[in-house]
Amino acid sequence: MWILIAELFLVVLYALLLVFFFYTFYAFVKAAPFVPTSNHNVEKIIQIAGLNSTDTMCDLGSGDGRILFLAAKSGAKCVGIEINPILYYFSKFKKLLYRVDNVEIIRQDLWKIDLAQFDVLTLFFIAPKMEKLMKKIKAEMKPGSRVVSYAFRFPNWQPTKEDEKVRLYVV
Ligand SMILES: C[S@@+](CC[C@H](N)C(=O)[O-])C[C@H]1O[C@@H](n2cnc3c(N)ncnc32)[C@H](O)[C@@H]1O
Repeated sequence: MWILIAELFLVVLYALLLVFFFYTFYAFVKAAPFVPTSNHNVEKIIQIAGLNSTDTMCDLGSGDGRILFLAAKSGAKCVGIEINPILYYFSKFKKLLYRVDNVEIIRQDLWKIDLAQFDVLTLFFIAPKMEKLMKKIKAEMKPGSRVVSYAFRFPNWQPTKEDEKVRLYVV
């Protein structure tokens, strides 16, 4: 009996790992694999974004939701877009655990999201995808919207503020 339970547990674990790694590879091709931002840099991102309670912010590729849950303390409406189902359900579980009302997590391909609804965007992409994303941001976001990029720069777009690898761009 116990052997059967242990075998079942291993099968479920392997299946979850398989799904996680499949989506990590898929995300790498689409925008960026899951690499969580350090807590130190999450604080910098929130600070440079200058969030307030009237803002609607979006973490594009929200991973385990760490940016969203800290950003939510500002009172802003915080939306996470995440394609990896394991990270999506993990973030939903955190939302339940922390009991925060102003965080919403959506399982969706970020390239299909209309960015016009957001005042603030945070992101951690890989360098080859930055130009494509810049074009989408400039085509969809309202003038004056804030975009905070961690790690990589947009080509030919000067940041308004910079704190080490955290950069603020104003549309
Ligand atoms: C570098 S991680 C950043 C995670 C989180 N924002 C952070 O800073 O800790 C990029 C995230 O984007 C997600 N991602 C990549 N491509 C995506 C896509 N096309 N649609 C939605 N999410 C995507 C990945 O699954 C991953 O969780």
